[in-house]
Parts: sequence; structure tokens; C-alpha cells
Amino acid sequence: TRTLRLAVIEGDGIGKEVVPQGVRALRAALEPAGVAVETTDFDLGAGRWHRTGETLTDEDMARLAEHDAILLGAVGDPGVPSGVLERGLLLKLRFAFDHYVNLRPTRLFPGVASPLANPGEMDFVVVREGTEGPYVGNGGSLRTGTELEVATEVSLNTAVGVERVVRYAFAQAEKRRRKLTLVHKHNVLVHAGHLYRRIVEQVSLEHPEVEVDYAHVDAMMIYLVQDPSRFDVIVTDNLFGDIVTDLAGAVGGGIGLAASGNINPTGAFPSMFEPVHGSAPDIAGKNLADPTATVLSVAILLDHLGHEEPAAAVRAAVENDLTARAGSEELASRGTTEIGDALVAAIAGR
Ligand code: NAD
Ligand code: IPM
Ligand code: MN
Repeated sequence: TRTLRLAVIEGDGIGKEVVPQGVRALRAALEPAGVAVETTDFDLGAGRWHRTGETLTDEDMARLAEHDAILLGAVGDPGVPSGVLERGLLLKLRFAFDHYVNLRPTRLFPGVASPLANPGEMDFVVVREGTEGPYVGNGGSLRTGTELEVATEVSLNTAVGVERVVRYAFAQAEKRRRKLTLVHKHNVLVHAGHLYRRIVEQVSLEHPEVEVDYAHVDAMMIYLVQDPSRFDVIVTDNLFGDIVTDLAGAVGGGIGLAASGNINPTGAFPSMFEPVHGSAPDIAGKNLADPTATVLSVAILLDHLGHEEPAAAVRAAVENDLTARAGSEELASRGTTEIGDALVAAIAGR
């Protein structure tokens, strides 16, 4: 048998509850295809930080790099200063492993209730830039804590960085409905905004079949609520992509269903798959978290590593489970492990 080496980072809060379900789903999907899953658990997050003061060491990074993929739950904990784990662990991984594509699909599955009155046929994918923008940490604080404090967060955008993610987005559009929407705010952020605009225009010349559209990010909030079916591929910067994809998750049936992949398309580093949601301290430890977003992230992982049939099996199991939930109060009130059990059984029994 072949082997898939999976690095597992449960992280904090509900990450510890949803990730085990994702690992079970991955095994159930791959075993019939003759692929064994070999997991390495990484103790990273609030617990490790409290015990050792470490967030992510060079040794952790070197060991993670030896894996085919990483499955991550969520990081962030009310007992740790905000930003320590988010920046020091999650963003460090995305940056160090050059996950320049943050792929976040939204599909309103049959039977799933959207909070929108007229959701239409919702099936789009956000290609969020993952290694630049305001996330680079190029900022600082002067005279901290005084009345004269100055705080900066400088957004860094490079032609190379924008072009590679834009090219990826066009390639996605070619495989889908051939529509690409750039989301930015070039009426105010004239430097980064026009860089994105120019590059989209240039790359579009190589894709005459792809219809190109633009929305300012504020107006995008309107369109995602009023007419989400108009979108196919959405390409945007790191921060706008973060915001757009929480709204996308909500209108697409709930954040408990929203999946993502942090992808290094070159294969130079392992890609990392995680639900869009965070550690949800408000429901952590109660078996209340929906593991579906993590299981759907496993489907993206399988696609990324070329396991198409297992990926399709995972999606089919989720789709059937969501339809079944819609028709049954009993199924709709299941907890994390019960949903996991049902998905794993459906994937294994295919
Ligand atoms: P959150 O996504 O953790 O929670 C937002 C809301 O969604 C909460 O009401 C929560 O209960 C609900 N929710 C989230 N996931 C759910 C699931 N699977 N099933 C059912 N309900 C779910 O966002 P937040 O509260 O803003 O952040 C909490 C912590 O998580 C912070 O420390 C933040 O920095 C961190 N965070 C981490 C990641 C990540 O690791 N990728 C992502 C977002 C937030
Ligand atoms: C996400 C999260 C992260 C982000 C945080 C926790 C760093 O919100 O994955 O969407 O902003 O990218
Ligand atoms: Mn987010």
C-alpha cells in the first residue's frame, strides 16, 4: 500500500473536537483506495505555550515539512494574548510554507437552509491571497499606551505575489463557469488596488473566454447577500478574503460547513487544510461543534493530493448527511462525534 503522511495540529478549543473526525474521515476515504494514513500529532497551541512559552519552533517546522499535508483545527484561546498564537503559529505556517493560495469554496448544498431569502444557486470559490497584504506584520507602534500613540499596519503587495495568485484564480475559472471577480478597494487603496487591477487585466488577455468583473469590497457585502449566485471565482487580497469568506460561510449554510485549503501549488512545501472557523471558545468542550467544515477540508486535501474518487466520496457523504439533517430534527441536533460517526460510516460504506 501507499502511505500518506499527515501532520495533525488540533490546536485549541473546538479544533480538538473536529480534527479527530476529519482524520477518521480521511482514513475511511483512503483505505478502500489502498492508501494508508500515517499521522503525526503536533502539540501546538495554547497548552504548549502555557507549558513552555513556545508557539512553533524551528524543529517543529522541520518535522512538519516532512509530511505530505497538514490538517489543522483552529488556534486562539481566551487565556493567551490575542495574536500570539494567530500570528506565531497559524500565520507563521502559512507564510513559511508559502501558502499563497487560500482556497475557500462556498456551495449551498441541497436542503441546507441559507439565512438569505433568495439564495439562488450558490457555488463559488474565493481565491484569497495568503502570504501578503496587511498580514505580513509590517507595522509597529510608537509611544505605545500614551495619548500620542501611533500604530501602523502596512499592507505589502508585490507584482510577483499578486500575479501568481491571479494566475491560479484564472486557472480555476477555466475549470469552472469562466467568471472571475476581482474584489478590492481601488478607489481608496490606490497602490495595491491598481496593482491587482492591472495584473488581472494583463492575465485576462491570456484567458479570453473568462469574463472578468470587479467589485469594491464594501459593495461585495451587498452582492453576497442579495445575489450570491452571480459569482464563480472571486480573487482578492489576504484581509478582504478573510472577511469575504466569513460572510460566504454564513450565507452558504453556516460557518460550521465552510472549508479551506492553504495551498502551495508548487509542492515545495506541504499544504495545510483547515475549517474557515476558529476555536469557538463559546462552544468548546461541549461536543457542539459541527465537524463538517473539517471533513470538507479533508476533501480539498484529497483533491490536492490527486485522490479524486476518495474526495468525491467525502463530498457525497457530506451532501447526503446535510440533506438528511434538513428533514429530521433528531439528526439536526446531533453533536460533533455523532455527525463524525455518520460521515465516517457513509464514506467507508461506499
Ligand atoms: P470563531 O469562528 O471561532 O467563532 C465564531 C462563531 O461561530 C461562534 O459563535 C462559534 O460558536 C461559531 N462556530 C465556529 N465554528 C463552529 C462550528 N464548527 N460549529 C458550530 N458553530 C461554530 O471566531 P471568533 O470567535 O472570532 O474567534 C475565536 C478564536 O479563534 C480567536 O482566538 C481567533 O483568533 C481564533 N480564530 C482562529 C482561526 C483559525 O485557526 N483558522 C480562524 C478564526 C478565528
Ligand atoms: C482565518 C482566521 C485567521 C486569518 C486568523 C486566526 C489569523 O481568521 O483563517 O480566517 O485571519 O486568516
Ligand atoms: Mn477568518
